[in-house]
Amino acid sequence: MRASRMSAGWQIFALPAAVSSLTDANFYGQSPPVYPSPQGKGSGTWAGAYVNARDLVDQMTLDEKVNITRGFTSSDNVCAGNSGSVPRLQWPGMCLHDAGNGVRATDMVNAYASGIHVGASWDRNLTYQRGYFMGKEFKDKGVNVALGPNAGPLGRIPLGGRNWEGFSVDPYLAGQLVAETIVGHQDAGAIANLKHFVGNEQETLRRPYHGVEAASTNIDDKTMHELYAWPFMDGVHAGVGSIMCSYNRVNNSYGCQNSKLMNGILKTELSFDGFVVADWNGQHSGVGSALAGLDMVMPLGGYWGDNLTEAVRNGSVPESRVADMANRYDTTDFATPGFGMKNLTEPHEAVDARDPQSKPIILEGAIAGHVLVKNENSTLPFKKPPKMISIYGYDATVPATKNTDILFQLGYNVQPEMAQAVLGTEGVRFDQAAKGGTIVTGGRAAANSPAYINDPLSALSQRAALDDTWVNWDLTSFNPDVNGASEACLVFINAMATEGWDRIGLHDDFSDGLVLNVAAKCSNTIVVIHAAGIRLVDQWIDHPNVTATIIAHLPGQDSGQALVKLLYGEAGFSGKLPYTLARNESDYHPYLPCNRTPDDYFPQCDFTEGVYIDYRDFDARNTTPRFEFGFGLSYTSFEYSSLSVDVSDLSPTTCRSGDNEIWDIVANVQATVTNTGSVEGAEVAQLYLAIPNSPPKQLRGFDKVALDPEESAPVTFELTRRDFSVWDVVTQKWQIQEGDYTIFVGASSRDIRLTHNLKI
Ligand code: NOJ
Repeated sequence: MRASRMSAGWQIFALPAAVSSLTDANFYGQSPPVYPSPQGKGSGTWAGAYVNARDLVDQMTLDEKVNITRGFTSSDNVCAGNSGSVPRLQWPGMCLHDAGNGVRATDMVNAYASGIHVGASWDRNLTYQRGYFMGKEFKDKGVNVALGPNAGPLGRIPLGGRNWEGFSVDPYLAGQLVAETIVGHQDAGAIANLKHFVGNEQETLRRPYHGVEAASTNIDDKTMHELYAWPFMDGVHAGVGSIMCSYNRVNNSYGCQNSKLMNGILKTELSFDGFVVADWNGQHSGVGSALAGLDMVMPLGGYWGDNLTEAVRNGSVPESRVADMANRYDTTDFATPGFGMKNLTEPHEAVDARDPQSKPIILEGAIAGHVLVKNENSTLPFKKPPKMISIYGYDATVPATKNTDILFQLGYNVQPEMAQAVLGTEGVRFDQAAKGGTIVTGGRAAANSPAYINDPLSALSQRAALDDTWVNWDLTSFNPDVNGASEACLVFINAMATEGWDRIGLHDDFSDGLVLNVAAKCSNTIVVIHAAGIRLVDQWIDHPNVTATIIAHLPGQDSGQALVKLLYGEAGFSGKLPYTLARNESDYHPYLPCNRTPDDYFPQCDFTEGVYIDYRDFDARNTTPRFEFGFGLSYTSFEYSSLSVDVSDLSPTTCRSGDNEIWDIVANVQATVTNTGSVEGAEVAQLYLAIPNSPPKQLRGFDKVALDPEESAPVTFELTRRDFSVWDVVTQKWQIQEGDYTIFVGASSRDIRLTHNLKI
C-alpha cells in the first residue's frame, strides 16, 4: 500500500536520481538497523576534551555514570535541563538551556535577532560575532550547553511553526551559518547544541499523544543527505559538542531511538564525537535508545536512571556504551551550573551577562536582516525628514507587559489567546498576527529575553524630537483617519509563529485590510512586516499607494532603532530573502503539515517531493514567485563582471561523508562587484550551481561586500567536493557525476548576472 501511494504521489521532476534511492519501494519509510553504537574517538579538536572526560569517567562507578546521563530538576535554577553530577569527584554536572536566539526566560541578557533574521543578513562575520557574544551570555549565566542553533526544521512547509528559529530553508545557507554560530558559541566557552536531528519539519503531530504516535517523517536516503542532514554535516565539521535528536519519528523509528540516524549517520558516517541529547521527553525506550546511540536523556530520567543500571547488569546494554555516553560530554571545568539562572519571581541577584562589546553587533545584526522588497520611485530613504509621519498598526509599539510572568517565560510576546493555547493542548490554533504589540522574536523555546525593546513608535518619535517634525499614530483602528498632510504613512503588521503549533496561513485579513485602508487614504504608504516566517504580500503589494515594503523579520531588542536608521538612510538595506516569497499559498509544494485521519494511529508524512522544496521546486515547475529566494533591494545598485573559475581536481570521483577530501576546495570562483549607485551599500553576491540530475539551481556560495560609490571589489566563492556532489544511495558515497554543470553568479536566485559552463 505504501508503495502505490508513493508512486502515485511522485512528481515527474522529482527526479530519476531521487527515484533510484527508492528502487525497492518496500524499504521506503523504514529505518535500517545500525549497530553497535560506535565509540567516540576524540580526534582532532576533540582530543583535549576526551582526555579530560576519560580521566574523569574512568574513575566513576556505574551508578555515577548512569547518574550523569539523565536530567534532574533543580531548586537552584530554571535551566531547561540539569544533568546529574558526581560530587565525589567534584564534577558539578551541566546546565542545558534554551535557546538558539538568546538566553531564554531570564534577566540581564540581550535579545539578538532571531535565526530567520540572521539568515536574511547572509553575513558570516556578523553571524559568528552574534554566536560568540550570545555564547558568552550563556557561559556567564552558568549555562554549559546552549540549546541551539536550529537547523531542523529547515522549512519544508512554509506553515512550519519553528522555521524562524533556523537560518534558511536552503541547506547550504543554513549549514554555513550554523557552523559560524557553533564556532562562535564554543569559542566563548558554551557548548553548542545543534537541533533537531532530523526531519522535525512540522509541529503538528510532533509528539505521541493520546495513543497516536508522532508523525513519521519519511525521507529517502538521497534527500536525507542532500537536504535535511546537510547542515548537520556542517555542524559536525565545525566541531559541535552536542546534537539534539528530534521528537518526530523518522522512517517509522523515533528520532531518539533511531540507530540509522545516531549510530549510522552521526556517529559512523560523520564521526560525530559529541553527545546526542533527547529532546525533552522525547525518549521512548530505554535499552533501545541506549543501543541506538542516545547519550543523554532530559529533562528527567526518562527510561534510564536505575533501569539503565539494571540493563547494564543484566547484559542488555554494555557498560562500555554507558562509558561512551559519559566520555562524550565535555567535562572541562565550569562554574556552578545555572548560577545565573534563578527563578525570576524569587529574590535573586541578577547576574548581568551582557558584554558592552555586543551592543554594536546586536544593532548591526538587527539592521542586516531587514529586506526591502518594494521601493517605488526611491521613496526610501527619506530625502529629508518628513515633516509629518503617521503610524498605524498593532505592531508599532511594545506589548503591554514585559515582566517575569509565565508569558515572559514562554516568550514575552506570546499573546493572551496564544498563551492559552501554549498552556493548553498542543495543536490548538491561534491568530496569525500577534496583535498585542511588536514582535522581535517568535515564541517558546527559541524566544529570547530582551533587555529592553526599542519599538518602532518610540524610535520614530525620538527621531521626530531631534528633527522637530510631527508624528501621528493610531495603533488600534482597522480603518484609521489619516491626516491629509502626512508625508509618509507607516503601517506595522506582523506574522507570529511559535514552537508547538504550525501556522494557519501566510497572511491575515485584519492586517491586509488595514494596509489597504491606509493606502486608500495615503499616497505614500510604507508597510513594515515583522515576520516569524514567510508572509505573503499579494493582497496589496501592487497598490499604487503602497510605495515601499520592508520585511523586517525578527530583529531582536534594537528593532526600532535599526528601522529608523534604514528609513532615514543612515544605514542601507543589504538583507536578502532566505526563502521564496510566493504569490499564493498554493504555489508552495508542499504547503500543509501532514495530518492524520481519525483512525490513523501511526501517521505517515512522506517527503515525496525529495529535494524539491522552496526555490528548487519553484524553479523546477517554473512557478513565478512574488520575490524569489535571495532577493532584496538596496539604496544603491551593483554591477557584476569578470567571472573567473579556477578548477582543480574536479573529476568524477566518490568520497565518504567522513573523508577529509569531501571538504577539499575543488573550484575557486571569483567575480567583481561594483557599486554603480551614489551611496555606499553592501551586496550579497550569490553562487548557484546546476548539477546533473538535480534541481535547476542550488546555492553553493555567497559573499557579502560593502562598497563605496564607484568602488569595486572581488567576491570569492570556494566550492568543495561536496558542493559538486550528489549522494549515491548504492555506494553510500558522495559522487561527482560526469556531465554538464553551470555556475551562476548573481544578485538572487533569479537575477543571474554571470554564468560559466563546466564539463566534468
Ligand atoms: C522542546 C524543544 O523542542 C527544544 O527545542 C527545547 O530545547 C527543549 N524543549 C527544552 O526546552
